[in-house]
Amino acid sequence: MSNESSQEPQGCFVPSPDVIANANIKSYEAMARWAQEDLPGFWAAQAEQFEWFRKWDTVLDESNAPFYQWFVGGKTNIVYNCLDRHVATWRRNKLALIWEGENGEVRTFSYHALNREVCKFANVLRSMGVKKGDRVTIYMGRVPELPIAMLACAKIGAVHSVVYGGFSVEALHGRLEDSESNVCITCDGSYMNGKIVELKRIVDEALKRAATVEHVIVFKRIGHDVPMEQGRDYWWHELMGLPVARANGGNRCETEIMDAEDPLFMLYTSGTTGKPKAILHTHGGYMVGTATTLKWVFDLKEDDRYWCAADPGWITGHSYIVYAPLLVGATSFMYEGAPTYPYPNRWWSMVEKYGINVLYCAPTALRGLMRFGEAWPNRHDLSSLRLLGSVGEPINPEAWRWYHRVIGKENCPIMDTWWQTETGMFMITPLPVVDLKPGSATRPFPGVEADVVDEHGDPVAAGDEGYLVLTKPWPAMLRTIYRDPDRYVTQYWSKYPGKYFTGDSARKDADGYFWIIGRVDDVIKVSGYRLGTAEIESALVSHHAVAEAAAIGLPHEIKGNAIHTYVILKAGNEPSDALIEELKAHVGHELGPIAKPEKITFVPQLPKTRSGKIMRRVLRARALGLPEGDITTLEE
Ligand code: WTA
Repeated sequence: MSNESSQEPQGCFVPSPDVIANANIKSYEAMARWAQEDLPGFWAAQAEQFEWFRKWDTVLDESNAPFYQWFVGGKTNIVYNCLDRHVATWRRNKLALIWEGENGEVRTFSYHALNREVCKFANVLRSMGVKKGDRVTIYMGRVPELPIAMLACAKIGAVHSVVYGGFSVEALHGRLEDSESNVCITCDGSYMNGKIVELKRIVDEALKRAATVEHVIVFKRIGHDVPMEQGRDYWWHELMGLPVARANGGNRCETEIMDAEDPLFMLYTSGTTGKPKAILHTHGGYMVGTATTLKWVFDLKEDDRYWCAADPGWITGHSYIVYAPLLVGATSFMYEGAPTYPYPNRWWSMVEKYGINVLYCAPTALRGLMRFGEAWPNRHDLSSLRLLGSVGEPINPEAWRWYHRVIGKENCPIMDTWWQTETGMFMITPLPVVDLKPGSATRPFPGVEADVVDEHGDPVAAGDEGYLVLTKPWPAMLRTIYRDPDRYVTQYWSKYPGKYFTGDSARKDADGYFWIIGRVDDVIKVSGYRLGTAEIESALVSHHAVAEAAAIGLPHEIKGNAIHTYVILKAGNEPSDALIEELKAHVGHELGPIAKPEKITFVPQLPKTRSGKIMRRVLRARALGLPEGDITTLEE
């Protein structure tokens, strides 16, 4: 590797011979070449490793691009491959899930036990009239019942829509209404950082605004009093209790036979308008893409204990806490609460206690833990760790080195995985056998093709900044935006016809390594969470004192980006510190605590184009003291 091309002064990290000797995939180049020469053959070989009720006729159908289809004609069900397949083998007694609550409670599920709970809950859903194709909203804390609910939906062919448990009333309302869910599954509350999040009360308030929900199923996590509406609200434990469960079919439930292209779930994510879009994923391609990437990148072995510290409410949790680990028959660990509760050694104590081999988390969490110093991790034996992973935002070299030295003891390669809600699976990522450069997600996964292009779609020179695009379809790709296929085309496929536009800017160095810079659209990544400026603005404008608002992201040491907002008050309202606090609380109540602005500035006007569009770019430049760039379209 040439030194001039490396944009990081500290050079690259070469995998040790024993990592290479033990790796599932020994040569990145060989796999990449195979996929380049025969993309359908490459993915078909991966798909062969699953159970299909009927084999596909065509691996990839491009005839209606960009509405690509994968494994066309194939029949399967992802849950059949996550559970049914394993319980028919010795794996029925293997641990599928180890869970620890924030209060120290521990629960474990073998594949047999997980399958039993999923079957029982699938029967509950069927008894409520939920059918193939129906949408079910899941709004829960990080408890085992969350994956159980997701898997139960998928088992009967219902489409789950998980809403992150840190979102609040209006965010939940919008997602319930857009998905037209008849059933909402929630908890009485959840524990987070020693406090209780009142999930059920938030559901009640959202349902006052939304009309479609007929049934609410409430899992009792806290045990405190919550209002239950007769005829609408049901306790999970009562529905799952013996008498009712037996009447509904007990521990047995047929897995619905699905088309490979049938929808599996939708997941709302932020884009350029105030209305979040529901990204749609399917049973077949998503299964093949997520399982293959997990197995190759995290190199999972039968006896590994793997921990993805994300939240199941985001894509990382869907793909790499719930589906992929079960598909490959792994043992996963899941933790309910905050990394620093009650002390900053919580994560490291659990790595030691459970003997975690592979840890996958976000740079923001690492930066948050770094500031407490090395003594906290050093109190624990972390020698079980073999591989580390990072996701959600660029990992700054300082955090990379800390992760590598203090947590990995310089023995663990770091898999920096770049991907999106839309891509479903890792896209640009190392394999353990690849040389690493801190801060680079390295090269595309075999079968994935990426490039960095200019405004016209032409590739830029090595080292230059440009737009990151994907130039070939991949099996776990989103199929559309639910109920909005036009937006799917304009958002992702229109800027550069034939190429998928990621919304990110990046550089590619002379070694072909990708360096992700960040979003170029109206998305802000706060602590790795994806939020839209328009959502934050519309939450602000829903307050009676606010006439107009603009939100931007500015660099933040721990969160990566922090939300800064500019607010024009309606006549008759005076700026004050009390009003600032009130507005922050209002955004927290409507959208969720993660969306609370770091800073609110009252302004008499906002920079706009002559057509009235807010120029957030100008606000950012002014806040950072940078040149304002082209402002010829700025209104006088
Ligand atoms: C960013 C999360 C740099 C990127 C899986 C992307 C990253 C957005 C990385 C998607 C990474 C994700 N390095 N940036 N390793 N991983 N991103 O949909 O801006 O929540 O477009 O999916 O996160 O966020 P999303």
